[in-house]
Amino acid sequence: MNKKTVKNDIMDSIVSLSKRRGFVFQSSEIYGGLNGCWDYGPLGVELLNNVKLQWWKEMTYREDVEGIDASILMHPRVWEASGHVANFTDPMVDCKECKARFRADQLEDADCGNKAYKGRKAIKCFEEGKFTEARQFNLMFKTHIGAIEDDSSLIYLRPETAQGIYVNFVNVKDSTRHKLPFGIAQIGKAFRNEINTKNFLFRTREFEQMEMQYFIRPEEDNKWFDYWKERRMNWYTGLGMKQGKLHFTPHPKDKLAHYAIAAEDVEYEFPFGWGELEGIHNRGDYDLTQHSEFSGKKLEYFDENTKEKFIPYVIETSAGASRSFMAFLVDAYDEDEAPTADGKVERRTVLRLHPKLAPLKCAVFPLVNKDGLQEVAHNITSDLQSSFKVFYDESGAVGRRYRRQDECGTPYCVTVDYDTLKDNTVTIRNRDSMKQERVGIDRIREYIINRIV
Ligand code: GAP
Repeated sequence: MNKKTVKNDIMDSIVSLSKRRGFVFQSSEIYGGLNGCWDYGPLGVELLNNVKLQWWKEMTYREDVEGIDASILMHPRVWEASGHVANFTDPMVDCKECKARFRADQLEDADCGNKAYKGRKAIKCFEEGKFTEARQFNLMFKTHIGAIEDDSSLIYLRPETAQGIYVNFVNVKDSTRHKLPFGIAQIGKAFRNEINTKNFLFRTREFEQMEMQYFIRPEEDNKWFDYWKERRMNWYTGLGMKQGKLHFTPHPKDKLAHYAIAAEDVEYEFPFGWGELEGIHNRGDYDLTQHSEFSGKKLEYFDENTKEKFIPYVIETSAGASRSFMAFLVDAYDEDEAPTADGKVERRTVLRLHPKLAPLKCAVFPLVNKDGLQEVAHNITSDLQSSFKVFYDESGAVGRRYRRQDECGTPYCVTVDYDTLKDNTVTIRNRDSMKQERVGIDRIREYIINRIV
């Protein structure tokens, strides 16, 4: 089997585990699905919330950053000012033969739309002259506000959360009385009508972003750019992502987005290749200047010490929550061997998620379903549930139950057995080492909390 097939197999295994264990489902699956949209299941929503919570704590539990939650629908002039109406486009081509639609700049990676040509890349069809001329396609989803559907009621679903921050710059500055440098952070949905969606959650049409705009004095841009680069990389590795799978990729000057003076991407090595998780951008004074011009309102900062009035520069950290979710899942995915009850070994699939990210912190099992063991296990479950997410499971052999929790990434499993009835102790089994320890019931909460925060 070649390397590429093995990597595709890993991706297939992750997609299938995601469905089997309730991390991610296809959107509207019973109707055949909706391309580029996904639903987070019971474990997926926990993992996604944990990713967002860790980001929120990292970015806003500090003196100089505030959070906001702006609306998804914004005044249409916002997107004219930001440059999205004019520039947020991708070049699109159609295949005249099979009618498939492609991004003209991604033909090397795309498969030909004709199933009869298995393994053929779209670039080959392009070279054979099968494509239409490229035309620019704006990625913003359009809708109408109010009862009348005409040009005057046209609005957009936001394609990035950042603009909700810029338009609130003065509100946040005045209400918090922050001095420069300070940041505004936001987590929220964004929508892009991508021409080609691909690679599971990597490129979707509805996704979540975690963005922070840090307002600074213009001459300090390099210092803060480097500072945020380091902080953001440390966030991923601090949550267990393998260092060797992460790197920075600077954007060459001629490929910078219309708003950027400098940009570097945090990239992760997925089974299908390196892909961007987050962009760190020096956006200069582009956005505040544009919004000042378009709104007619002054979006300036007055420095009381130097008596200067100026438009601050912005260092932006722009991460995808959905992409980070997928990267954490891929990074945690592992297969190894585990002992069975009859002294043999079996293959096990395990998600080695950082305990802070794990959807379930602990599972509780009665060894058998009789003699009062279930009642004790239920009591422990409801007691622990006030502190963290716990799962009660009484079905199948304990070995099977361990395997299920390994696939869910649950760091600890608590088993209630006959000794529990005698001495009020349980076994706590560690997902990664598979070692077991005997712990008093009254110490379970402390034992787990000490290891998950
Ligand atoms: N405010 C700047 C901005 O939006 P971007 O590089 O276009 O920059 C930032 O997007 C992040 O949002 C990306 O690094 C990625 O993680 C996520 N993202 C962008 N488009 C996405 C899509 N179609 N599906 C999933 N995530 C996406």
